[in-house]
Amino acid sequence: MQDDVLMGYERFMNPSLARTYRFMGLDHAEETGEGAIVIDDRGERFLDLSGGYGVFAQGYRHPRILAAAHQQLDRMPLSSRVLVSPQQVALAERLAALTPGDLTYSFFCNSGAEAVEAALKIARGSTGRRTLVATVGAFHGKTYGALSVSGRELYQRPFQPLVPDVRHVPYGDLDALRQVMSEDVAAVIVEPIQGEGGIVVPPDDYLPGIRRLCDQFGSAMIVDEVQTGIGHTGWLFAVEYSGVVPDLLCLAKALGGGVMPIGAVVGRPWVWRVFEESPLIHSSTFGGNPLAARVALEALNVTVEERLPERARELGAWLMPQLMRLKDRYPEVLAEVRGRGLMVGLEFRQAGYAGMVMAELFARHILAVYTLNNERVIRLLPPLVITQSQLQEAVGALEAAIAAVDAVKEDLRPETDES
Ligand SMILES: Cc1ncc(COP(=O)(O)O)c(C=O)c1O
Repeated sequence: MQDDVLMGYERFMNPSLARTYRFMGLDHAEETGEGAIVIDDRGERFLDLSGGYGVFAQGYRHPRILAAAHQQLDRMPLSSRVLVSPQQVALAERLAALTPGDLTYSFFCNSGAEAVEAALKIARGSTGRRTLVATVGAFHGKTYGALSVSGRELYQRPFQPLVPDVRHVPYGDLDALRQVMSEDVAAVIVEPIQGEGGIVVPPDDYLPGIRRLCDQFGSAMIVDEVQTGIGHTGWLFAVEYSGVVPDLLCLAKALGGGVMPIGAVVGRPWVWRVFEESPLIHSSTFGGNPLAARVALEALNVTVEERLPERARELGAWLMPQLMRLKDRYPEVLAEVRGRGLMVGLEFRQAGYAGMVMAELFARHILAVYTLNNERVIRLLPPLVITQSQLQEAVGALEAAIAAVDAVKEDLRPETDES
């Protein structure tokens, strides 16, 4: 049965992806999930430490979010787009209340990349400028605009030419940013913590410094919280940690409560002037459909009422010293542990070590994956409803996995960096 699914990938979808799944031993077909657990079609249970790359902050199939979905599904799942949508308004109003400062207006779409596309267009349109400044190692999605501001050549090379007038600067480096700022910069786009770049936490003065430079040059500050947003870092939005109010805030992933795909960009009034020229200057047929909007509102309510950001902070404070202990014990395998709340990166000395740890964890029925732009880093982004005893179990499994790598590390081939 499960091999049939991989055969289907091979024959009808992506043969190369099928080979990758096989090579990594990921030959289990998912059937359902609950809380922090995914269950395959043979009833085997897996503890999910990657949380669908940040989608399942509220856990798999949260009962309140599912109930909201069922209600809306039976009433009006998609929009006529001619009559107005109360579900969109309710979500936009909630986002305006929950996001910092005067972030007021929301545009809804269906994914993280689309939220980034919208933000880039709104920034260029509202400033009348061309240049977009982004960071090395960033990941903003794989559509053309989002890909152009992402920071890994591997994903860009075959698709040139990309969107023009994009400059990349090293992440976390305000001096480098200062050097490229000018009155032609429409926007600086940045993740508060680089997710796919390897869970890279910038210095505390980084976001405030970007804010100041954007103010000085009249550029829009776009913060991409597609991965950090909705609680994982111990704050509902990671920017809250820095006290900074961006001009455009991109959301997706956990905004959909693990039930529906939805993306959003929330903006301050001055950037929204781009819509004055034409209210439909940017739009999406499915974006903010009633089903997704109703689900996202419930996801936000659950996140706030169940105090999931606080939970991430507390569990993260418990987890971090456990992981540091592993680093101290196996310094030749595990080079660094970093993160905030329950967004944590484990950086291994070699990509091969990270790969073997992933396989060892999988053999112990634990799901954890490396980050897309840095294969030496395994990212922990579990559902925030994970229990402390589940985390304890994960730490035990990680220790066993790292010990297994330590025992054979001399035999593992050194990495080759293809990017
Ligand atoms: C920070 C960030 N931005 C944008 C995206 C793209 O989101 P999507 O895959 O929904 O297009 C991702 C996806 O991982 C992300 O981590």
